[in-house]
Amino acid sequence: MITLALSKGRIFDETLPLLKAAGIEVLDDPEKTRKLILATNQPDVRVVLVRATDVPTYVQYGGAAAVRQGARLTVATKYVAIAREFFAAKGVHVDLIKLYGSMELAPLTGLADAIVDLVSTGNTLKANHLVEVEHIMDISSRLVVNQAALKLKREPIRRIIDAFAGVVGQK
Ligand code: PRP
Repeated sequence: MITLALSKGRIFDETLPLLKAAGIEVLDDPEKTRKLILATNQPDVRVVLVRATDVPTYVQYGGAAAVRQGARLTVATKYVAIAREFFAAKGVHVDLIKLYGSMELAPLTGLADAIVDLVSTGNTLKANHLVEVEHIMDISSRLVVNQAALKLKREPIRRIIDAFAGVVGQK
């Protein structure tokens, strides 16, 4: 199977006609399907839709994933430091792969055995036939301010912070 990793976004619109002209037709309508792995008219060619920044990673590790056997666990995540700490504390040696989006595609394509990711409703996991095996931590959002801006634009920033604090009900 040949996997073509294509960049999502505006450039994708120009990629499809190019593929078609080269004799490769994507069977699903990418506008309508939520699938991230798309079959083509060529049984041995498939397309994965990923962020542009993830394309080199899929190309670099994709081949290795096809030949990996009995090696240690490969984990894909946006949160490399947290994942590294988590597995180190358990004494488990893993290979971490940094991705910038669509984590759930990594196990589906064989790029990784597992992912460390955020979950909100759990719908994405379900939709991709993935199962939560361990809860690492609870998360919450933070307002982060540049230190220089905090000094130089103290008043307007204070107003925004106070406004947020009012909405979330704490100071
Ligand atoms: C996050 C996360 C999952 C999804 C989980 O992605 O990476 O894909 O939300 O939410 P759920 O449990 O409610 O389904 P996000 O939308 O932040 O985009 P990303 O693909 O760029 O990570």
